[in-house]
Amino acid sequence: MENEWVYTEKLKEHFMHPQNVLSDDDKTPYDGRGIVGNMKCGDQMLMAIKVDKANGTITDCRWKTYGCASAIASTSILSEMVKGMKLEEAYKVSPKDVVKQLGGLPEHKIHCSVLGDKALRSAINDYYAKNGMSDKIKTEEARIVCQCMNVTDHEIENAVLEGARTYLELQEHTKLGTVCGQCKPEAEKLLSEYINKHFA
Ligand code: FES
Repeated sequence: MENEWVYTEKLKEHFMHPQNVLSDDDKTPYDGRGIVGNMKCGDQMLMAIKVDKANGTITDCRWKTYGCASAIASTSILSEMVKGMKLEEAYKVSPKDVVKQLGGLPEHKIHCSVLGDKALRSAINDYYAKNGMSDKIKTEEARIVCQCMNVTDHEIENAVLEGARTYLELQEHTKLGTVCGQCKPEAEKLLSEYINKHFA
């Protein structure tokens, strides 16, 4: 059928046999934990890492999610990718890198793959906070782009991940720019930056 997405073998393999899932009775004292997402949307993600403190390398990465098949497969492969990585290197792994390893993901499923790396960054920050390295913590605070409608850069990024490709579609998703319109140039700039970041 036209437009039917054929899931890659790699994706199927990680969905059928997810790696490094955190079990409910796991009592391991992990060095860093991060939780992101929203239980109400059923897309919460928990990541837990163990770190070799001598050289700042991730030795184990476990996760748990209530997300969909794409979220499960992408987090499974992410947890494999970051084992053995330096914390700084793991912090920079993007959803694009993960999707590449999976051999691709349908565009409308890309947003499912961003939870894992967000939770991972949160776990790394947690490790930094617990080990006296607060100076290394990078916050990802949202910045308001549309003052009138209180729309942030994070919401613009989410709208892009959910399929917005034009300014009009961005407005449909977020209601940004519907009052004074002053935010339009900045919003259009961010729109193309995020399309480039996730889909180029
Ligand atoms: S700042 Fe966005 S509509 Fe006014």
